[in-house]
Amino acid sequence: MSLFEAAKAAWENAYAPYSGFKVGAAVRTSDGSIFAGCNVENVAYPEGTCAEAGAIAAMIASGQRQIVEVIVLADGAEPVTPCGGCRQRLAEFAGPDTIVTMAGPNGPRASTTIGELLPGAFDAAQMDKANA
Ligand code: THU
Repeated sequence: MSLFEAAKAAWENAYAPYSGFKVGAAVRTSDGSIFAGCNVENVAYPEGTCAEAGAIAAMIASGQRQIVEVIVLADGAEPVTPCGGCRQRLAEFAGPDTIVTMAGPNGPRASTTIGELLPGAFDAAQMDKANA
């Protein structure tokens, strides 16, 4: 199954009864594995989770740590980019040059990188007390 197919399968299963906006995401890891996730909404709206967070949780639970490619898939008028929080979540496990493809149900629509999505990212080096 391709990264696109994995994201589309997750998108089809998304639980989004409140927004009506389904999102699927899939990440490829450095060992070639693919992990997918979808948004899971909740009647207590802030408790909903994003597709990217689901894909990352599956990746971590499986023992992988290094994302080498990302696809986010939704059926929007414009290609749908990861939300701010998910940009930071992806940056935790993906380098700035990692390709992020925005897809619709019929295929890829646009591509960018983690670095373009989150310039000036907060990272662990900024917590180094030696820099204080
Ligand atoms: N959503 C995602 O799953 N990922 C994003 O990056 C953007 C937003 C979801 C959250 C919510 O269930 C719905 O899309 C509308 O915001």
